[in-house]
Amino acid sequence: MDFKNVIIKWYNQERRDLPWRNTNNPYFIWISEVILQQTRVIQGLDYYNRFIKTFPTIKDLANADIDQVMKVWQGLGYYTRARNLHEAAKQIVSDYNGALPKTYQELLKIKGLGPYSAGAIASFAFKEAVPAIDGNVYRVLSRIYGVFSSSETSAGKKEFYTLTMELIDKNHPDTFNQALLDFGAMQCVPRSPDCLSCPFNEIC
Ligand code: ADE
Repeated sequence: MDFKNVIIKWYNQERRDLPWRNTNNPYFIWISEVILQQTRVIQGLDYYNRFIKTFPTIKDLANADIDQVMKVWQGLGYYTRARNLHEAAKQIVSDYNGALPKTYQELLKIKGLGPYSAGAIASFAFKEAVPAIDGNVYRVLSRIYGVFSSSETSAGKKEFYTLTMELIDKNHPDTFNQALLDFGAMQCVPRSPDCLSCPFNEIC
């Protein structure tokens, strides 16, 4: 079984049409990933649209007053995200000429970005073949591959990272990572997944 082909085929049939998937703008992708770190897609959509409308560029965000930023974030919760975004925008203007750095390793240096979000931005915006492993991805891979190492330990993180690097579609890391996210959110759900309709049901 070629995991990447199966999951991408599933994705091409079932994928959700989401606004941050119809753009190559790294800034828009960054905003979407920070929102989706702790917010469901349905709730995040309006906030995403409003945020990029109010602050269409990194410079607009960097030059904004923190109160304006907090006002747009009002109701989303986890307000550190909004403060970090504002700080990060200023950092990007002063240290990176106003554009997000283009590699996973450099993205990790941006305030508020961790391995998941740096991997998401690097793969979605810059097509770098790096994993973007969130809770959904841990669940999917542990079920299909029987890896039950804790995602909380560094040994466990490393094991999942290595496995994902073996599975990733190096020519289409963006599609592959989006596919895994949707597969975890829609098919391989935490409770009562519909395994009968799952393309992996014979090997899982
Ligand atoms: N959750 C986190 N990032 C996502 C994305 N790009 N699409 C759908 N769900 C997500």
